[in-house]
Amino acid sequence: MARTTLIAGNWKMNGRLEEAQALGRAVAVGSDAAFAAGVELLVCPPAVLIPPVAAALAGAPVKLGGQDCHAAASGAHTGDVAAEMLADAGCSYVIVGHSERRADHGEDDAVVRAKAEAAHRAGLSAIVCVGETRAERDAGRALEIISGQLAGSLPDGASAANTVVAYEPVWAIGTGLTATPADAQDVHAHIRAELRARFAGETAQAMRILYGGSMKPGNAAELLAQPDIDGGLIGGASLKAEEFLTIAGAAGA
Ligand code: 13P
Repeated sequence: MARTTLIAGNWKMNGRLEEAQALGRAVAVGSDAAFAAGVELLVCPPAVLIPPVAAALAGAPVKLGGQDCHAAASGAHTGDVAAEMLADAGCSYVIVGHSERRADHGEDDAVVRAKAEAAHRAGLSAIVCVGETRAERDAGRALEIISGQLAGSLPDGASAANTVVAYEPVWAIGTGLTATPADAQDVHAHIRAELRARFAGETAQAMRILYGGSMKPGNAAELLAQPDIDGGLIGGASLKAEEFLTIAGAAGA
């Protein structure tokens, strides 16, 4: 079964109102070509900027996502955002378990799993992030670490329709260092095998696995050509519409 390539921009904590609106508009203008090539486009702005970016996208074939959500639907959780609120704001995806949240906010696999379950409860697709640190890779433990994160972070109810896995080696994020296409493919094949061991074969075959970590126009085509790399989760290059759309073009090529 063919998997629809997903090119997702994680804007992280970047952009003031005018920049975010301009970026949304520029992505919207260029989105038809990606859509025509069968590539799904997604942007994940900071939570407070989701409504103005939704307005800037104005019906273009670009989906919206949050960068995080709380596990609960409501309650005394100052500063947090519920998955239901993201859905109300027009989101269809939410990133959970990004390594920056695991590091900055001490989120462990159980927390990430609860957030993924919240996403499903709210009708959102969860983009569940996993990835090893440089020290873990150097110690030859990358696959073992990723297996543990998958086992702990993916809910039992994960399906190809409600879950996307993102492999983001921590040492490649924001550093300009990228996993070689062959190394990334090795990890993606390992993730697919873990999915096959836990879920139905069809689910494992259909679930998308994104690569993230310094994906740029110059390296995207080679990465996206790998058989188990089904798209990209893009940080820095997603802040420039031209770069983001060029990556999407490489996916559709
Ligand atoms: P960069 O593309 O800036 O390396 O960020 C990757 C990332 O963390 C996306 O979630």
